[in-house]
Amino acid sequence: MPQLLNKAPSMLGVCYYPEHWPESWWAEDARRMRALGLAYVRIAEFAWSRIEPEPDVFDWGWLDRAVATLGAAGLKVVMCTPTATPPKWLVDAHPEILPVDPATGRTRGFGSRRHTDFSSPAWFEAAMRISTAVAARYGDNAHVVGWQTDNELCCHDTALSASPAARDGFRAWLRGQYADIGALNAAWGNVFWSMEYRDFDAIELPVGAVTETSPAHRMAWRRYASDAVVRFHAEMVAIIRAHSPGRWVTHNFIPMPETGVDNHALAAPLDFASYDNYPLGRADLALAGAPADDFRPWMRTGHPDMQGLLFDQTRGLTGRPFWVMEQQPGPVNWARHNPRPAPGMVRLWSWEAFAHGAAVVSYFRWRQVPFAQEQMHAGLLRPDSSEAEAWPEIAQLAGELAALEQAGQDLAEPGRAPVAMIVDIESQWLSDIERQGAGYDYNGVVAQWYGAVRGLGLDVDFVAAGADLAGYALVLAPALAMPGPDVVARLRDTPALVLIGPRSGAKTRDVTIPEGLAPGPLRALLPMRVLAVETLRADCPGEIRRDCDAFESRAWRESIDAGDCTVLATYEDGTPAMVRNGRVHYLATLTDDAFLAALLTDLCAEAGMTVTPVTGGLRLRRRGDLTFAINYGDEPVLAPAPDGAVFVLGGRTVGARDLAVWC
Ligand code: GAL
Repeated sequence: MPQLLNKAPSMLGVCYYPEHWPESWWAEDARRMRALGLAYVRIAEFAWSRIEPEPDVFDWGWLDRAVATLGAAGLKVVMCTPTATPPKWLVDAHPEILPVDPATGRTRGFGSRRHTDFSSPAWFEAAMRISTAVAARYGDNAHVVGWQTDNELCCHDTALSASPAARDGFRAWLRGQYADIGALNAAWGNVFWSMEYRDFDAIELPVGAVTETSPAHRMAWRRYASDAVVRFHAEMVAIIRAHSPGRWVTHNFIPMPETGVDNHALAAPLDFASYDNYPLGRADLALAGAPADDFRPWMRTGHPDMQGLLFDQTRGLTGRPFWVMEQQPGPVNWARHNPRPAPGMVRLWSWEAFAHGAAVVSYFRWRQVPFAQEQMHAGLLRPDSSEAEAWPEIAQLAGELAALEQAGQDLAEPGRAPVAMIVDIESQWLSDIERQGAGYDYNGVVAQWYGAVRGLGLDVDFVAAGADLAGYALVLAPALAMPGPDVVARLRDTPALVLIGPRSGAKTRDVTIPEGLAPGPLRALLPMRVLAVETLRADCPGEIRRDCDAFESRAWRESIDAGDCTVLATYEDGTPAMVRNGRVHYLATLTDDAFLAALLTDLCAEAGMTVTPVTGGLRLRRRGDLTFAINYGDEPVLAPAPDGAVFVLGGRTVGARDLAVWC
């Protein structure tokens, strides 16, 4: 395994596009990168048309010289496969590689990026051919220290395609899964609405129908599409490994909520995962519906839980230190509104990433480009090469990292958090496919539960369903829609307290109601039954009562027969809303934040954990012996550091958009 932990001189990087600039600029650019304290430079992920300007005619000269120039300045090169942007000649020769938009049925054309179909055999062949060429050319180049596969796989809604290739691939995949068409018909319940098939080749993709298609059909399509991406990526990683021994391989992931792809499976062949951190763009989109007063405090910072959540999810993909491969340095160009970061935020986001286990933070991009699609997107330099707003913050950060290292404070391997949160792509798929209530969104539930734990000052590890739960004091599963036997066994075997949220064990693998009712196989741990489900408008909540306190029961409410479980909370009519059996708790409804905070405080106390409640913009995170207090707020706050704490950065008063670090 290549070395993953980095020391101060090697913790910062930048994304660079030598093909966008005159060659005469490269050496000076490289010199200035080093002078700023940057160690890594990621290149070539969109450079296919320059690498192979015509079919089978390769022009390596410019890229060889770019790598040599960057390397000569002391930069370590992260090389990419350029498969996010296949050139026009390939599309002209093989128009069948273009994906088809499932919503409109239209072929998505050339002219931007990601215009490819993971099911297309011609695309697979072309992508692996160019990957092999690049890997063979730079695999043992002394300046190339590692690889990024592709770029943001499935970005721009490209996991699903409704092409003929996808239909054919889906049919073959279904044949592999069910073998017999009668078995598929029975499993999906196709007798309903006369949807029975006589052959696998009669099955279409679940698009373009008059009204809702079968949930089993859509679930199978999601699984198929996710598998196709995983297969494509695994092959690319294998090619790189074959040509580039001793180098690491990573990918800059789009989070699962946005792509609907199983990122845990996608990450399996990688050394570590990377994430592209655009807090303001994401906040603008995620908080689009929030009232102005709730949005304004975070307009220039991003919400204080959102970056942490995505850093933790990225670390959880491999359980190892991760990279921020692209960090927003100023306004982006792609959200609905694109404000400037508050002064100090570029440094603070970077420190926050390190607190959550980042090995490297790399900025997007070196110089703002004066042409084409992203010309309104900030870089570290303006188009005239003058230093843009983030520059002094990165210079400060580089100095702080160096000082920390000199003081003997290397950032340690991120240890195990006390709390595990199980994230489950199948629960996300079910929440998309069978909406049932506009107020139930799996990822919203994960974010709410995460925020509740972070509000108690605790660190969280995200783990995949079925992962080892050893060493955790508290295990949270916001939903486990269709848990397999491995998941049930892990929950049975952990000595931790377990809290399972509503909609768990709700369905079988083929999206049917389990025999004996929900929570299906979880009844081995929770001898109870879900009798009925109702969903409510956001402004018409019910009540949940616990220990004489009343809170809101919202959006998704299950009526349950508590069976042999102990009732811990009730609805307004006195029927059970939360039960417990041994260490395992089942919460049958979504609730307000106050309920979760009260419940988790009690569970943490029972599990022997000390909580440090934080409010406003303050968040805490530990790494090794160090505790980080990160203040997103616009007022100074007091660090909740114990007496005798030794501050290695900042002090007891944490300034606005600033941090303190102590041991
Ligand atoms: C990322 C992408 C980059 C660039 C950037 C702009 O998602 O990987 O290529 O487009 O967004 O913010």
